[in-house]
Amino acid sequence: MAILKIARMGHPVLLAQAMPVADVAACELVRLVGDMVETLADAGGVGLAAPQVFRGVRLFIYHVPGSRADDGADMAMRVVFNPVVTPLGDEMVMGWEGCLSIPGLRAAVPRFARVRLAAQDETGAGFEVEASGFEARVIQHEADHLDGVMYPMRMRDFRYFGFNEEISRSGLEIPEDADAD
Ligand code: NI
Repeated sequence: MAILKIARMGHPVLLAQAMPVADVAACELVRLVGDMVETLADAGGVGLAAPQVFRGVRLFIYHVPGSRADDGADMAMRVVFNPVVTPLGDEMVMGWEGCLSIPGLRAAVPRFARVRLAAQDETGAGFEVEASGFEARVIQHEADHLDGVMYPMRMRDFRYFGFNEEISRSGLEIPEDADAD
């Protein structure tokens, strides 16, 4: 296992369309998943997409810490190949988002409140989950990376974009009535 370099915003790898994965069990992909899990643990984020580590394949990993989960339970790391994300309803919500490729910053980003994720796991088996809240946000953020989309490209209100330190120190909050549509 190895800790991989994470591309930062401005590198074209983050703007490219990633390729579908035909054989998720290929040993180089098994190694890539292991390296991504280690890289994410080292960086301290909740999700990481393959293009962020300079690999243009449709793969991301994510987990939801108990502190961010609706039910308060830690979610184990999920490996997601070839995802298809479908909004469930048209409700949009604003929430803070950060990205390991945009270190130190966070922003209010509109996302669908509920989504269905259909994908393959690390064994190649298909699975489907319905997600809401923070998990739905993470899924949409990571799936966007596979299409070359970074969260600033989704933003509507640049007043709520800043450095983590300043936002925490000032207590800046996204207004309840922020327009997410
Ligand atoms: Ni990101």
